[in-house]
Amino acid sequence: MKREMIYEGKAKKVYKTEDKDKYIVEYKDDATAFNGKKKGTIVGKGVVNNKMSAAMFMLLEEKGIPTHMIELINDRESLVKAVEILPIEVIVRNVAAGSLAKRLGLEEGTVMDKTVLEFCYKNDDLGDPMINEYHIAALNLASEEQLKEVRKYAFNINEVLMNYFQERGIRLIDFKLEFGLYKGEVILADEISPDTCRLWDAKSNKKLDKDRFRRDLGQVEETYQEVLKRIQ
Ligand code: TMP
Repeated sequence: MKREMIYEGKAKKVYKTEDKDKYIVEYKDDATAFNGKKKGTIVGKGVVNNKMSAAMFMLLEEKGIPTHMIELINDRESLVKAVEILPIEVIVRNVAAGSLAKRLGLEEGTVMDKTVLEFCYKNDDLGDPMINEYHIAALNLASEEQLKEVRKYAFNINEVLMNYFQERGIRLIDFKLEFGLYKGEVILADEISPDTCRLWDAKSNKKLDKDRFRRDLGQVEETYQEVLKRIQ
């Protein structure tokens, strides 16, 4: 049973339940880019992101990675463990794209010799600036031990997801993760969806993710449906 809303973000709402250890997450169709400067709606996105995230979290659980997922409730809602989110965005990159391509002057699509892990400080007022492990320690955003877990899980998740998408004709270019604390343990939270991953078609390199919205590439809704179809 849904109780009061405790958080509304750009793409999701989070509600308390009668159980203090469980939250309900509701996925919206609202889409933003460039730290909220661009606003729009992607019809059906909430349903796609809810269902896809549930499937990704269940897959990761099977592979031994703890996540906040409890169960899918309906098309737009999931029951999750009530975590306290670490204010760090964890970005994993296999291929240069987006802000990394720009920052380092690499052509988008350049395959890198090593998987890159980046951290951003989750702070909308500051535009989620990139930080390193010294900043994380200096600002007390996570303990040394928690960060070690985050790093280990991030690389494990990358392995699992790369294989999974490859089998479905999709290249996993990069993605963003968020972790939370649940009863003192670090677990994966937030979502894994076309909003938070760059996914390219393996044959054509067609963008199958939120870049279609960010960059006005068209076929936005159709692409979200296509990704869901491929993973179901
Ligand atoms: P970037 O290249 O723009 O830094 O994005 C890296 C990855 O992070 C990409 O897969 C999209 C995802 N991402 C989010 O999930 N939320 C955000 O606010 C941004 C900017 C990127």
